[in-house]
Order: sequence, then C-alpha cells, then structure tokens
Amino acid sequence: MSNYHIKHLEEYYQVYRKSVRNPELFWEEVAEEHFLWRKKWDNVLSWDFKKPEIKWFEGAKLNITENCIDRHLTTRANKTAILFEPNNPNEPAQHITYKQLHERVGKFANVLKSKGIGKGDRVCIYLPMIPELAVALLACARIGAIHSVVFAGFSATALSTRINDCDAKMVITSDGSYRGDKSIDLKGIVDDALKSCPGVQSVLVVNRTNRTIQMKDGRDVWLQPLLDEADTNCEPEIMDAEDPLFILYTSGSTGMPKGMMHSTAGYMVYTAYTFKNVFQYKEEDIYWCTADIGWITGHSYIVYGPLANGATTVMFEGVPSYPDFGRFWEVVEKHKVTQFYTAPTAIRALAKQGMEFIEKHDLSSLKVLGTVGEPINEEAWHWYNDNVGKKKSPIVDTWWQTETGGIMITPIPFATPTKPTYATLPFIGIQPALMDEQGNEIKGNQVDGRLCIKFPWPSIARTIWGNHQRYKDTYFSAFENMYFTGDGALRDEVGYYRITGRVDDVIIVSGHNLGTAPIEDAINEHPAVSESAIVGFPHDVKGFALYGYVTLKETGESRDHDNLRKEINQVITEHIGPIAKLDKIQFTSGLPKTRSGKIMRRILRKIACKETDNLGDTSTLLNPEVVQEIMDNAL
Ligand code: WTA
Repeated sequence: MSNYHIKHLEEYYQVYRKSVRNPELFWEEVAEEHFLWRKKWDNVLSWDFKKPEIKWFEGAKLNITENCIDRHLTTRANKTAILFEPNNPNEPAQHITYKQLHERVGKFANVLKSKGIGKGDRVCIYLPMIPELAVALLACARIGAIHSVVFAGFSATALSTRINDCDAKMVITSDGSYRGDKSIDLKGIVDDALKSCPGVQSVLVVNRTNRTIQMKDGRDVWLQPLLDEADTNCEPEIMDAEDPLFILYTSGSTGMPKGMMHSTAGYMVYTAYTFKNVFQYKEEDIYWCTADIGWITGHSYIVYGPLANGATTVMFEGVPSYPDFGRFWEVVEKHKVTQFYTAPTAIRALAKQGMEFIEKHDLSSLKVLGTVGEPINEEAWHWYNDNVGKKKSPIVDTWWQTETGGIMITPIPFATPTKPTYATLPFIGIQPALMDEQGNEIKGNQVDGRLCIKFPWPSIARTIWGNHQRYKDTYFSAFENMYFTGDGALRDEVGYYRITGRVDDVIIVSGHNLGTAPIEDAINEHPAVSESAIVGFPHDVKGFALYGYVTLKETGESRDHDNLRKEINQVITEHIGPIAKLDKIQFTSGLPKTRSGKIMRRILRKIACKETDNLGDTSTLLNPEVVQEIMDNAL
C-alpha cells in the first residue's frame, strides 16, 4: 500500500509531484493495487477538453459492488458495513455486516430484475436516510442499472422533472419518512409527481412509517414481500469502465437542473482513494458523514468511498436538533465515531446553542473532522476546532462539487497544517488554476481569480444526461482547455486555496445549491406576480439566504403583502421544495434593467447585502429611478 496513506507534508508534496508529472502512471498504480478488476484496462486515460470527452481505464471490466461488498467477504464478513442510527433515539441502531449487506443487495437486485429492470435502465430513488436507500443504490449498480437519487425534500414538481429528464422506468420510495418530530407523506408526493410521468412502469414502496397510503394497481408494490421471496445471490453485471453508474441532478444558473452523469471505474478509484487519505481512514474506525445520500457527498462519502475501503459507515436518519441540539454529539459518543464530516451550516446552527449540549458527551473518540458544501467562516471553524475537536482533531475543509465526484482541494490530516477558512492544497492528482476574466492563467501566489482545473481526474462527470452541449457550454467553454468550476478562489502566500464563493447565479443556502432561474420561474407562476429576481444575502446560520424582489400585476397590488409573501413561499415549496423558500420578499414597482432588458442582479445583490455605498453607475439603466425606490424600501 505504498502510495495510499500520506503521513506528512513532505510526503504529500512528493506524491503530489509524482501524480502530476505522470498522471496516467500514478492512477494506474492506484487502480492496480487496490481494486478488483474482471479485466484490466487497455488505456489509462484519453481526454479532450474541447469535445469534451474523458475516458479513464478504458477497456477495463468490473462491477463496483464487487469492490464495495464481495471482496470484503473473506476478511470482513462480520464487520459492520452500515451502522444505521434511526431518527428516534429510542429505536435501536442497526449494524448491517458486510455479509448481510451482500445478501440484502443480492435480494434487492433480484427484485429489480424481476420487475424488468436491466443494464442501462434508469431507476429513480426517492427515499429517506434508511438502509434501503444505500441498498437500493448498490442493487442498481449490481445489475448495471443507472440510479438517479432525488433528495427526499424535493417537491412533486421537482421530482417529476427529474424523473422525466432521465426517463426513469421505476421509482423506489417509502410510505413516509421521519424527520425530527415530523412524519412526512413521501408516497403522496410520489403519487403527485407521477401524474406527469408516463414513463414510470413500477413503484417499489418501502414500509418505514406504517402510514396509510394509496397503492396504484399494476404500478405500486410493497418491497418487503418481494425481498422475502427473492434469492440472495445475484451475479454482478460485468460493466465497462466508462459505463454510467449514476445520474445526480444539480442546479445550474439557468434552466433545468443538470443531470450530472458519472461513470464507473474512475469514480470508484477516486472516491476510494480520497476517502482513505482525506479521512486517514484505518480499519477499526467508525466513520460518520451527516450528509443525505440525496446529495453527492452522500453518494461518494457515505456509500461508495467508505464501502470500497471496507469501512463502517454511519447512516443517520434524523436531524441535528432532535430530540435536542445534542443529538450529533450523543451519536458520536454512542458509536465512538472517529471521523465526523458535516456542513458549515450545521456547525453554525449548533454553535448558537448552549455549550451544555456538547459538554454532556464524551467526544474523545474523534480523530478527524471535516466540512463540505460551502465556505466555512472563521468563527464557525474555531468553534468546531475548539469544542468538537478539542484542538486535537484536524479539520479537513474539503472543496469539491457534484460534477467533480470526489474531494478536490483539502488538507490531508496530520500532514497539511490547517488554516481557518482555507481548503488549503489540491488533492493528489488535481491541478487547479486561477484565471482572470480575459482568460489568462494567473500565476504565482497572493492572487485571486476564477477557479479552473487543468487536467482530468478519474471521477469528473462525463456529461450532462441528454445534453452534452450544455456540459460543454457550462464547464469547458469559459476558459480554453480548462474545466471551469463556477467558483472564485484566492491563493495565499504559501499556495493555499481559499474558496470565495460562486461567481455565477447559483446561491448556496445551507449547503444546498440553488439556481436563481427555477425559483424565479416558480414565483412567476403565482397569479399576482408579474416579475421577480432572486439574490443571496449573508445569513449567520445558512451562509446565504434568499432575497426576492417581486413586481406585482395590477390585480395583485392591492393585496395584503404578508399573505402574498406566504403564498409565494408556498408556490416555491410546491415547485422546488422548502429549501428554496425566500427569507425576504420585497415588493417593488419595477426591477432595474439594462437597455437590452436584462435584470441587473449586481445592483439587487448589493442592496440585499446592504452594500449600497458603491452601487456603480446606474445611469445607463433603462429605469434608473427604481433603484432609489428599492433602496428606500429595502428589508
Ligand atoms: C461549494 C458539494 C467552499 C462551492 C460537494 C461548490 C464549497 C459547490 C466547499 C458545490 C468548501 C463545496 N468551501 N465552498 N469546502 N465545498 N463548496 O455540487 O461553491 O452540492 O461549487 O457539491 O459548493 O456544491 P455541490
């Protein structure tokens, strides 16, 4: 395991240099040493960022579930693979061993087959954080079906859009879900969504909450009776390295969410290798990532990365505030968690609570802490470091994206000295570049620019499902021969990176990417609304919150504004989900526009952020007079 664990900074630099001097050789060595291949590759890498086309380990044959499950059966059959901690602390935790996971995935895969699902078919998974969710992903991968997980907080409309975009034949869901003291009617949402999804032939339903639900004849079936009948053994479908593994939707600046398509071998190699190094994972560790599997963090660092390493991965069904704000720390103590990976928004929410929630619990098992999803502010970083890590557990501030599949910029614990708010150094094999607006690379240190990546890494998304042109336009057209991330970053005097935030119209609220366009489209559906524009403004828990400027039709002008605000948020909840609700809604007689009719978000953003000293030149606007009105009435 020569190049697997990095132990000090010098070693990092050595391995890093090797990885960029000859990436093919480097990744070939990693792939050879640590995985099970049915056939080795003919070619390590071919790529062309102009087309764009990227292929890793072409010609290789494998099944990712053999790597995540079967090969551990000789040495880890009775080791816990998935440690499930239910929403209700009084319900016992479940320890699912590798042997049991093998059986459960085998049965589930056979059920999928019996329902006519095969290689290449798309299966939409809309489940809460229960073991069946992880098992469903793996069962799809077992038979070569492409999973498309939709976060179970999205609305019926958002779900149906995603189902139709990838033409899913099947939906896997549950009767309901638990979140804190709430019980949610998940199946009802699916029923609504499926009214506009003619392509869905079957729905498998997990019983989680014993709720009374509608079952549509000929379409909906309970999963458990089928599992009870199914054979535990399911031979893995042998996949090509570049066969699709999954689709996962992420918000874009405009239009439809983008179905990022990840392929098999490169994704497996990179998530496994990053997991081991970024968390300094050791055999006896209990690793917990608090993300939901509905997001990329859950795919890569709850399911595939940890299981490919034979790790014990905790799956938590609940929320940090239930039954009280000590829940995370109670779970850490109860299961003796060694690595804890969460989002800055959760840290900020917990830091606002009294210290008694944390002081009650023994956190001495913790070795490494992680954050992901948005920039972590200095105060939250110190709170995490002082109170959770007791200044002895390094914090890995990991920067990456749905599109990158795995962690891209991060400290290596105990090797890279950390620095608050800095994601620090590129991971092994990652070649970042900062670009100026003219398209030139900015060399040297103490500079800032737009963050790009110069060279492919194994887990880069290969396309946007059904829209390769959009993939090219979004990521490979802004800068020649570069993958453009959409983020801004600075590089300090020692070469550490700090991510400064999105440079496009994506806003990150509580770690969730939200595109402004779909929210505006939803608001505009309200009969009283004429036009709207959304911007982000700083929020002490969510990082950013949403500020909406709304103009009303004449019929709406006399309406009670507080009621209208509620209705607008209701429309957003129906179209997207509660995560996209607006914190502030300002009604205005107009929106500032350029002469070509484009809304000047820059001005609206400054007003929302209370940075009105320097609004820039507004005289060239079509309607400069509305700027004063908006400022006067700003919330
Ligand atoms: C942001 C999440 C600062 C960034 C894995 C990125 C971060 C977007 C960090 C991707 C971080 C993620 N520091 N910003 N450590 N991690 N981001 O696709 O803007 O949900 O482009 O993937 O989150 O979000 P996504």
